[in-house]
Amino acid sequence: MATTFPQGFLWGTATASYQVEGATREDGRGESIWDRFAATPGHILTDETGDPACDSYHRYAEDTALMQQLGLNASRFSIAWPRIFPLGSGQVNQKGLDYYERVVDALLNAKITPFVTLYHWDLPQALQDQGGWANRNTIDAYLRYVDVVVSKLGDRVKNWMTHNEPWCISILSNGLGVHAPGLKDMKIALQVAHNVLVSHGKAVPIIRERCPGAQAGIVLNFNPAYPATDTEADRLAAQLFHARFNLWFVDPIAGRGYPKDAWEKYEKDVPEIQAGDLETMAVPIDFLGVNYYSRAIVHDSNGGVGKIINRRNPVNMMARGWEVYPQGLHDLLTWLHKDYTFPALMITENGAVYDDVVWQGQIHDPARQDYIKQHLGILPDLIAAGVPLKGYFCWSLLDNFEWAAGTRDRFGLVYTDFATQKRIIKDSGHWFSRIARANAITD
Ligand code: FCB
Repeated sequence: MATTFPQGFLWGTATASYQVEGATREDGRGESIWDRFAATPGHILTDETGDPACDSYHRYAEDTALMQQLGLNASRFSIAWPRIFPLGSGQVNQKGLDYYERVVDALLNAKITPFVTLYHWDLPQALQDQGGWANRNTIDAYLRYVDVVVSKLGDRVKNWMTHNEPWCISILSNGLGVHAPGLKDMKIALQVAHNVLVSHGKAVPIIRERCPGAQAGIVLNFNPAYPATDTEADRLAAQLFHARFNLWFVDPIAGRGYPKDAWEKYEKDVPEIQAGDLETMAVPIDFLGVNYYSRAIVHDSNGGVGKIINRRNPVNMMARGWEVYPQGLHDLLTWLHKDYTFPALMITENGAVYDDVVWQGQIHDPARQDYIKQHLGILPDLIAAGVPLKGYFCWSLLDNFEWAAGTRDRFGLVYTDFATQKRIIKDSGHWFSRIARANAITD
């Protein structure tokens, strides 16, 4: 088994604006759907909001120094749309742009390559009030936002991701109601998914025009599906789950349109498609961002829709009930390479949630280290076999505001003491740093 990575491999961490920045009312930032959602009792497990989260709005220099200390050569972070357009469209807020300019310059000074996610879920509330992503006007507002941001930063930032996890933006947030804006309407959710993919297709040419030499992509979250038993019913349920969760998003991006079986099962909930949409969504991209945490074990129920059970192997679970299953990442990358022709793949998120304990000023988190090591471990052989994998971004740099779980769920390589905002590098962080510097799994 190979343990070294190709020269120039990207070693980074990933974060998202709402999860780390705090300062939600500072310097003219407008309200986002997450501010509204988190402030509503019952939505967040810990009753917190994204304020102050990790207070990174004020501590980005310290956080950049941490990345440097960890020996990272890349950083994935997102831009908060309501900092740039407090009302979603209209007047630009210069102070918001200035902030991200400072963030980017700090990274570049530290020789860390910025990877910018343009939309990681903090939609301006003013746009949600007009229907959010289900309203096609939001696509136009998004394109204007993209234009302004890329025009400003495109001389320094070359790597752009249009969206983070359209499945979460649509199904989780508008169909299942777990994330902001908290709607439970599949028809709306599928329209949101469609409009988001259209906005991706329209944003890529703008990015290329405003940023010479741009590398443009999108980040999808994958949940490889495995039938719970060998029965025909479970096999079909897993297949349908795969179509709904994975193919629904990757196939349109790859120019294949929506998967037929899932389209038929959705019946009246399918989205409205305008002429040219499918071509727009299929714009060629430079890389596909892959987020992987765990797999889905599916068994037939609910008239074939499938129920996920992730409990086949209860000894190998992370804190929130996700199974540790590195083979899933292997299967996923092998499939993406074999069945599609994306010029490059990037692991834009992978990481582990465990309950950490500070012990004499240190955090011993062997389980997280082991999780990352197992997932990294499968990569060198895949790369040698031709999978065009260019980088690995660990989720996350810091423990942060983990959406509906609040600060309960810790994913960081660096521990955040939310009461004092003190950061402590965990054992897993020290280990990751050795691996990143060596460009090889050395221990
Ligand atoms: C992903 C999100 C990211 C983080 C991780 C744990 O779905 O993109 O913001 O919450 O899960």
